Amino acid sequence: MMLSYTGQTDAVGEFAVAVGDGLRKLNQRELPSAYLYDELGTALFEAITLLPEYGLTRAEERLLRRHAGDMLRRLPPPVAVVELGSGSGRKTRWILEALAARESVAYFPIDISAAALIKCHQELAHIGALSIVGLESSYLEGLQEAAIRRRPNQALLVLFLGSTIGNFHPPAAEKFLQDIRRNLRPGDALLLGVDVKKAIHDMVLAYDDPAGVTAAFNLNLLSRINRELGGDFVLRHFEHHIRYQEINCRIEMHLRSTRRQTVSIREADFTCTFREGETIWTEACRKFRVEEIPGIARRTGFLCEAQWVDTEWAFAENLLIAD
Ligand SMILES: C[S@@+](CC[C@H](N)C(=O)[O-])C[C@H]1O[C@@H](n2cnc3c(N)ncnc32)[C@H](O)[C@@H]1O
Repeated sequence: MMLSYTGQTDAVGEFAVAVGDGLRKLNQRELPSAYLYDELGTALFEAITLLPEYGLTRAEERLLRRHAGDMLRRLPPPVAVVELGSGSGRKTRWILEALAARESVAYFPIDISAAALIKCHQELAHIGALSIVGLESSYLEGLQEAAIRRRPNQALLVLFLGSTIGNFHPPAAEKFLQDIRRNLRPGDALLLGVDVKKAIHDMVLAYDDPAGVTAAFNLNLLSRINRELGGDFVLRHFEHHIRYQEINCRIEMHLRSTRRQTVSIREADFTCTFREGETIWTEACRKFRVEEIPGIARRTGFLCEAQWVDTEWAFAENLLIAD
């Protein structure tokens, strides 16, 4: 695999600013979810996808395995594939194998996590007729780079799987889809995987597994701050906390301070006191209705060409075509 780095050069400085800005928000302190994915966080996320309570990944894998042929029949060759936040790319094999059976394929996995890109290459290197160019980058910078590298006659198929779109606040999600659209040509495609609203108990358990893997994933963000920014968070004094917010139809992942305590972060030039019970919001996971996707597509410059819904775990794969 070729691996290109297209990210910013002062990664520690950017991290420190993001952490300082998020923790200074007094109504609700926050940390950006993108920073959950260092090497350890990436490995823990992979473990999460195997948990019996986390139905999303298995549902999406079933949809891709069963319907890849149907999805690709709607996209005439030649096609180059770009995946935003590829992670390990384990599910993507079904799309790439089906595509590689009809043409030679260029695949651009984009991820801020170098560990994810290495794993992705290990998962997919066995597929013949596939060239993998990993882009260690943020979503849109990577997409711009991949769009420049496509051959003039190639259509782009952009994959945004795993319901990662649910991590954006609703207005930001639509703005992000519009930004994706701006990098595409009419006829290019976006395959968008979204988790669908279901019983609250199932949605909560998916992020609060009894084995504590998701808790470790969440708490690792504090240990990453300790390691990379000189923080002094005591992990045992914070706990994983999950809420479901009905009005916004979203799961929220928080870290709750179990006591009054003061924390300093050297690189962020930051010290603050947490109240007992105060939380830091680390991730939002919005849940969708299948019927709302065509409207989101229209508002962001796409047409919703087809939808496939898993019947075991409500999850929808949506094929959007750039208008
Ligand atoms: C929820 S995981 C999903 C992984 C995979 N697509 C799946 O469906 O299982 C999100 C992935 O996006 C990456 N990521 C998060 N924020 C990112 C950003 N701003 N730019 C690029 N990659 C990002 C993470 O490193 C992680 O691999």
